[in-house]
Amino acid sequence: MFSLFPSIPFRRNLLSFRTRQLKPLPQNWMSSLKTEVVPSEREDTFDDGVRPFEDIPEVNRWKFIYNLCTKTEGFTKFFKETARLFDELGPIYKDDFMFTPFKTVHVIDPEDFAKVYLAEGKYPSRAMLDFWIEHRRRRNHFPGIIIADGEEWHRMRQTIGPKIMRPKIVEENMNNFNAVSKDAVARFIKLKETSQEEGHIPDLEKEMKRWALEGIATLVFNTRLGLYEDRPPQVALKFTEEVNNFFELSHTLLFNPFSRIARQYFDTPTFKKFLENADALMETGEGIVDKTTRELKEMTKNGIDLGDAQVVPLLTYLLMKEGLTPEEVNVHAIDFVGAGVDTTSFATVWWLYNLARFPHVQQKLYQEIESVIGIDDDVTPKHLTKLHYLKASLKESMRLTPSITSLTRIVDQDVDLSGYHVPSNTLVQMEFYATTRSDKYFKDPLEFKPERWIRESKDVHSFSHLQFGFGPRMCVGKKRRKKTP
Ligand code: HEM
Repeated sequence: MFSLFPSIPFRRNLLSFRTRQLKPLPQNWMSSLKTEVVPSEREDTFDDGVRPFEDIPEVNRWKFIYNLCTKTEGFTKFFKETARLFDELGPIYKDDFMFTPFKTVHVIDPEDFAKVYLAEGKYPSRAMLDFWIEHRRRRNHFPGIIIADGEEWHRMRQTIGPKIMRPKIVEENMNNFNAVSKDAVARFIKLKETSQEEGHIPDLEKEMKRWALEGIATLVFNTRLGLYEDRPPQVALKFTEEVNNFFELSHTLLFNPFSRIARQYFDTPTFKKFLENADALMETGEGIVDKTTRELKEMTKNGIDLGDAQVVPLLTYLLMKEGLTPEEVNVHAIDFVGAGVDTTSFATVWWLYNLARFPHVQQKLYQEIESVIGIDDDVTPKHLTKLHYLKASLKESMRLTPSITSLTRIVDQDVDLSGYHVPSNTLVQMEFYATTRSDKYFKDPLEFKPERWIRESKDVHSFSHLQFGFGPRMCVGKKRRKKTP
């Protein structure tokens, strides 16, 4: 997800990353995980034919690193080595590649994903970035929905979920989204006209981030940042730079195992920069939240009714909620930006890329858009219900080139995965990239075929493509329609 190397096809999302830190974690986090997996009490094969944890094929850390450097494409693409390992070892293996004092179990089979979700417990927990946790801990900040676990997470989710996951949320924000997208298209046209290379947008990835940030800011902060103005406001430029730095520094910290080791002993220069930038980001966010708070107070003073709490913009809703401090509101808002901008922009960049590679799909999509919306019209909620091919092509793009290559859960109870016993409290990594590119789970996996999603196919396992996660901790940015994936 982090954009140090624009040519890297898949970035790992903050939420998908598998690492636990070597430094002590906050109490609630550490306590949720044993540092060593307790060996099974039963020694050999269980009565029911299930084999003990110790028998799960194990990958030697150094061999893994050697393979990354020689057989696949390096640290930033280790999901490719993971996919290769499944071919070599079968549907399950364990490792401690990130120098963790415990073993992580990796699985590829959607049947196992379903079992992991069943075993996730009431308060699902996943691995998180140590440096993000560390920043909030050191600054004594509220942890936020992405980092928090247990009852604390549940309370936050209950505060935010009912607002953000309402089916009407898209409809209510449609005008804002249309306005942002129109500005983006106008800018693309201008960039193409003035580009050195005819018809090219020089840095599409950066442009899609601008679009995602401006769009998500309307949803979260209830304001246009102004990134499409001829001279964007200083605060908008500052905020964009801080968001970008946040991801870039995270990328550096994440993919350098030696920096991870060094951070056990001292604050590395990159980590210090990360802390400074995270402070600046929080401060800029606070400025935006404060402005909205002042406006709200002014409105209430003037007797203006703020209306139904379900319909007001997200920031207003949070500020109206009793018991939330402005700092908590700010952390929520920053987390939404952190969770939403890169995931959305990368998914869109890859969608455009796949459409460019498969012109017949692009043509079919164009025809659908032209017949449903027309050339110049705004998109309406009614249109969305008719754009079946559009939705299928996005889903297919996210299968072929996922923004999230894996997702973790710390299982809350013992579970049998691919014939092996996995004790509760083990970190299990569901390897989506390997699954969606395997011909065992998808016919012609490397082809871009939106048609496979048009009709529910019996050939596709319902847990085989979970780009937004699943269960009570799934992405809040996904509109919830049904209880199955
Ligand atoms: C293509 C776009 C997106 C993708 C692929 C994506 C994917 C994900 C995934 C895989 C998770 C983890 C779910 C789990 O652990 O089961 C997640 C969580 C989350 N996402 Fe998204 N997301 C996207 C867009 C967004 C947007 C636009 C927002 C905000 C407006 C958002 C906000 C969040 C939040 C707050 C969480 C944490 C939920 C929790 O821990 O309770 N996401 N997302």
